[in-house]
Amino acid sequence: LNRKASAISDMQIVSRSADATARAGKSLAGSLKAGDIVCLYGDLGTGKTVLAAGIGAGLGVKECVISPTFVFMRCHRGRLPLYHYDLYRVGAPGEIAALGYEEFLFSDGVCVIEWAERLGYLAPAERLEVRLEHAGGDRRRLRLIARGKRYRELLGDLSRRNKRPAKKKRTR
Ligand SMILES: Nc1ncnc2c1ncn2[C@@H]1O[C@H](COP(=O)(O)OP(=O)(O)OP(=O)(O)O)[C@@H](O)[C@H]1O
Ligand SMILES: [Mg+2]
Repeated sequence: LNRKASAISDMQIVSRSADATARAGKSLAGSLKAGDIVCLYGDLGTGKTVLAAGIGAGLGVKECVISPTFVFMRCHRGRLPLYHYDLYRVGAPGEIAALGYEEFLFSDGVCVIEWAERLGYLAPAERLEVRLEHAGGDRRRLRLIARGKRYRELLGDLSRRNKRPAKKKRTR
């Protein structure tokens, strides 16, 4: 088995509905491990919170994953803890650092960060980026970009899991 061949650095998904975006999040969750960081980039209404909620569902979070509007991070309990950040309302990276943003990175759970654009120099070098764009009506283009070896392996794992299992050979 060639492990290197299974690493992928870039993947694109076109979603046609909020449900499809949530399912993509759920599927992504199946490849996530403790310490992983998923940075979400994109305009208002592109589906970052919908994707984060799907990741939560995939991690077995029972309660509703809504945007942490009045705090900048919410923690949810699932198979792994989910640390869900929304940086829309915070200012300069210095302010984000002062809020203690780094405490939950590389920890026992998964960090999903909306408005990761705001991180500036604070962005961890190794991360999975998801760049979301409006593509007309209910369509959204999601580009998944691996920054670092762990995340190339993650995308490799995700693409393998998304492939239909080969048809079973007929046995008599
Ligand atoms: N294909 C799609 N994927 C995701 N959301 C969709 C899609 N089509 C329509 N929508 C709708 O777009 C909206 C996306 O809202 P959401 O809060 O997830 O965006 P957001 O990127 O988190 O925005 P914000 O920057 O304000 O936090 C929802 O109302 C959702 O129902
Ligand atoms: Mg949001």
